[in-house]
This record gives sequence, structure tokens and C-alpha cells, in this order.
Amino acid sequence: MRARNDKAAPNNPAMCWSAQACARRYESEGNRAFYRAAMARLLEGAPGFQGQGIDLGCGTGFSTEVLLAERPRVAWHAIDASAAMLAIARGKPGLAQVDLRQACAEALPYADASFDVVVASFSWHWFGERAGQEVRRVLRPGGYVLAGVPVRRASRVRGNRLLARELLARRRRFVAKTSQGLRFAEVPRLLPGPFRVARHELVVETERFADGRELLDVLDSRGALAAIFGESPPAVLEAAGSIDFEWPYAVLHAQI
Ligand SMILES: C[S@@+](CC[C@H](N)C(=O)[O-])C[C@H]1O[C@@H](n2cnc3c(N)ncnc32)[C@H](O)[C@@H]1O
Repeated sequence: MRARNDKAAPNNPAMCWSAQACARRYESEGNRAFYRAAMARLLEGAPGFQGQGIDLGCGTGFSTEVLLAERPRVAWHAIDASAAMLAIARGKPGLAQVDLRQACAEALPYADASFDVVVASFSWHWFGERAGQEVRRVLRPGGYVLAGVPVRRASRVRGNRLLARELLARRRRFVAKTSQGLRFAEVPRLLPGPFRVARHELVVETERFADGRELLDVLDSRGALAAIFGESPPAVLEAAGSIDFEWPYAVLHAQI
């Protein structure tokens, strides 16, 4: 997530979550509402759960707050790679009972078969390939994975078309990244080995923005510009009037 006009912001998109300025921008009311709603959608149809659970890529804790409220019989743990995001999560009194740790999803600091449920809401597209093996390793037999993963999908909505046009303009120096989202059908392949798919569904959230500037600002604050464009995000979108934007993501419930 690159804060435009912030000279201290890192240029490497893989490091984009580590800057304090980025974490502070992420922590907005609009983003809280968006990520809480996404977490609530991800829980729909999931079992009641008890035992031990973990939120991977918890960020500043929006998803963790919903997990605590909706599945209170679970002892929740949460990890994030970014110290800046975790610092904000640690300051929230509502998360005091959560074991929050700085760690990468590709090297989880937990013993084998530690968890009954592993959750990743809007974070798995940032993880490296090893994360799937790690998730499987730390899950108990019969445990669940709940993943909400942004996916690539052609859209006729104006905001998405504007961004597609920007991507096309960069196609010569463009290198595809997993952070841009997988195809819907690819999402179950994030998890290696056999499992039962209990839910695999496409969800499309549509938001309306006042103009191109607001759209870019919000996408930037959510890390989406870095995820899609890497180091060369558009600085302006030539578009007047309100703009709709679609967020397509796959919901996966898998039981191992
Ligand atoms: C969109 S944000 C947070 C999503 C969060 N679940 C929520 O609901 O607000 C994605 C998070 O994934 C974290 N992240 C990115 N790569 C990671 C990795 N390899 N391991 C752990 N966390 C990672 C980032 O630091 C960032 O906080």
C-alpha cells in the first residue's frame, strides 16, 4: 500500500504494509466497515467452532474483531507480517484477549495440529506459495479453513474498466502478480492435499465513489493499488462524477 505524497513510503510493493503511514491510512471508518462486512460474509454458513482459531494477515484487526464477536467460544490468535499494522491492532482494547504475533503465513510459529480453524480474509493473495502447506500443517484433522480471496474477473462497471485501461497502458512493462488475485476456480488450489469443500462461492461487493480521486484514494488505503499495479500505480484517474467499483472475491470453506 503506497501512500502517495509520502516520501517515507517504501517503493517495493511487497513491503507496502510495513510503513506506519500506510497502517494509519488503512485504519479508516470506511475500511473498517468494508473489511468487517467481508469477514461477516466469510462466516456465513460456517460451523459454530470452538477450540483454537487463528486469523492470518489480521492487519489492524478488523477481521479479528468480527471473529471474536461471532465465534466467542474460540480462543483467537492472530498474526500479521507488518509491525505497523499490528501496533494498531495491539492498541485496541477489544482485542486484548487475542494472542497477536508478528509472523509470516509462510512460516507460522505454531506446532503441528494446533488449530481447529484457520481464517484468512483479504490477505491470502499476499502470501507466498508455502502458506498453503503451513495452513495444512497447523490445522487439526477435521479442522476448517475459511478464506476470502480477491479474484480476477472481467467487469463492465466503470471503476473497474478505468483501472483495466490503466493496466493496459502499462502492459509492456507489466509482470503478472498473485496479489492481483487468482481466478475463482484456482482458489481451492491454494490449499495442498485432500480436503472437503463445504463452500466455494463468488461474492461481488459494489461500492460507489464520488469521483476518480476518491476511488484511487480508497484503493490505495486498502493496498489494492500496490496489489494490482506494483510500483507504478496511476496518480490520477481522468473521470468526473460518481464511479462504481466492484470487489470480486472467492469465499472458500474447506475441511481437512
Ligand atoms: C488487506 S490487509 C488486512 C486484512 C484483514 N484480515 C482485515 O480484515 O482487515 C492484508 C494484510 O495481510 C498482511 N500480510 C501480507 N503478507 C503477509 C504474509 N506473508 N504473512 C502474514 N501477513 C501478511 C499485511 O501486512 C496486511 O496487514
